[in-house]
Amino acid sequence: MRCERVTQHLTEPDKAIAELVRVLRPRGRLLLIDTDWDSMLPDGSSTLLRERTPEVIAILTGQVSKGDRTAGRTLHRRMIQTGLTDVQAEPVTLVFDVLADANQLLPLDRHMVMGIMGDHPAAGLCSAWLDALDECVADHTFLATLTIWVASGSKAGVPQP
Ligand SMILES: C[S@@+](CC[C@H](N)C(=O)[O-])C[C@H]1O[C@@H](n2cnc3c(N)ncnc32)[C@H](O)[C@@H]1O
Repeated sequence: MRCERVTQHLTEPDKAIAELVRVLRPRGRLLLIDTDWDSMLPDGSSTLLRERTPEVIAILTGQVSKGDRTAGRTLHRRMIQTGLTDVQAEPVTLVFDVLADANQLLPLDRHMVMGIMGDHPAAGLCSAWLDALDECVADHTFLATLTIWVASGSKAGVPQP
């Protein structure tokens, strides 16, 4: 059974994972994939990119979802705590050097970001942060990484005939 990039949106991810385990067949394997938004790191020499990216990402993800933006790296712990065995978690780090490609997955598109922010007090900060990214694009140095976690675990028991 597989569930991708959903637990990051949930206010009670442990309950959701417990329900997935409940309906999983005995000895079945659960595969969960989720993002760790705290791992989103653009390069850049500006202070905004170097020092305020975590703050910007926390604000942006908070505007989109009430869930846990670090969901990806919590999967290993949550799956063990749900009683699954043989839990394995692998980080997959995506590397983007083209902003247009990054926009497919990362919250970097100006129109989208400013729409998300609306009249939020930090809209100006986000706009300036996007300006700093645009400067990287302009001098062909844009680079950003994001880690997504792929975690799996097995349910105990004997399969029904
Ligand atoms: C990033 S998409 C992933 C969709 C799909 N699993 C995939 O891999 O393409 C996030 C999904 O989470 C769902 N979602 C968001 N909040 C949710 C919630 N509170 N309960 C259940 N699903 C939710 C959305 O409807 C959306 O389909």
